[in-house]
Amino acid sequence: MSDISQKSAPAPEETLEATAEPVTVPDPLDEAAIGAAVEAALAAIAAASTLDELKTARLAHTGEKSPLSLANREIGGLSKEFKAAAGKLMGASRGRVAKALAARTEVLEAEDAARILVEETVDVTAAPRRRRAGARHPLSTLQDRVCDIFVGMGWEIAEGPEVESEWFNFDALNFKPDHPAREMQDTFFVEPPEAHLVMRTHTSPVQVRSMLERELPIYVLCPGKVFRTDELDATHTPVFHQFEGLAIDKDLSMADLVGTLEHFTRQMFGEEARVRIRPNFFPFTEPSAELDIWHPGAKGGPRWIEWGGCGMVNPNVLRAAGIDPEIYSGFAFGMGIERALMFRNEVGDMRDMIEGDVRFSEHFGMEI
Ligand code: DAH
Repeated sequence: MSDISQKSAPAPEETLEATAEPVTVPDPLDEAAIGAAVEAALAAIAAASTLDELKTARLAHTGEKSPLSLANREIGGLSKEFKAAAGKLMGASRGRVAKALAARTEVLEAEDAARILVEETVDVTAAPRRRRAGARHPLSTLQDRVCDIFVGMGWEIAEGPEVESEWFNFDALNFKPDHPAREMQDTFFVEPPEAHLVMRTHTSPVQVRSMLERELPIYVLCPGKVFRTDELDATHTPVFHQFEGLAIDKDLSMADLVGTLEHFTRQMFGEEARVRIRPNFFPFTEPSAELDIWHPGAKGGPRWIEWGGCGMVNPNVLRAAGIDPEIYSGFAFGMGIERALMFRNEVGDMRDMIEGDVRFSEHFGMEI
């Protein structure tokens, strides 16, 4: 018998952990020693209960550095008369081990496949955990619809801040400091009072911002939130939405205002819809009017519904924004979105709109 240390040294990566201990190379003619190596291999193969364990047993007992492989290699160095006997013994022995390995592999692979089938079973009868899809709020879809109609006419969308300077919210719109009109809108003032900031009471300040920021002519639609110190009840909320329209160009007249609103209401409420204006007062328009719409789809039959205000932009407002009223004129209008949702979709109580209950939004679908 010879020791492995006398053989060519194995490359380190080929060395099995299992061979950390010196391996004794059996003599290929020693039937007892070879028989013991075969028994050891068969025992290890039988003991392997997973494919991983079987791999370890295979490498230890049939790998290059295993006793049987090393013994096999010894045959080459034997004298001629012993070669045949050694070859026969080694061939038969290694054959037994290979056969046992193949049989055990088949058994363990079958077990593995059966285990995977069980572990990865999908119970198609199990109830899935559903996540509700949610829904866009009808105020958002309605606001988008209004914007789309005006964009379709070539108008632009303009935005302004919700915390607004008193000057934009009132002064520039021709509300004099002690003008009773200021009291028409109960205002949230923002601390400190010296900052002269308010929560905007309407979207009209965006008119002035647009005139200061944009090139003439101007055709803008300004949607957004507005704030008033109203108590929350069925017909009031302290936060609500408006949209403001402003057109400034040469030679604009009331006819352009009415024509624009008529087109808009028809797109919104159908071909049968009409608009009607009635004299009113707003400090920032002159003349000013209340806007009614003929709503063909109203519950209980078609009727006139009061919707907003409008008028020709007051020359004082044009001047405040640096526009010469001798050259330019304009019209403006402002409407409430909650109000439109109420009469268009028969929502009777404004509190339903702000409770955030998705069931309210869901029945409007994706488009209203
Ligand atoms: N800002 C007014 C309000 O909130 C509505 C309004 C009236 C807007 C007349 C306008 C207008 O642009 O011309 O009550």
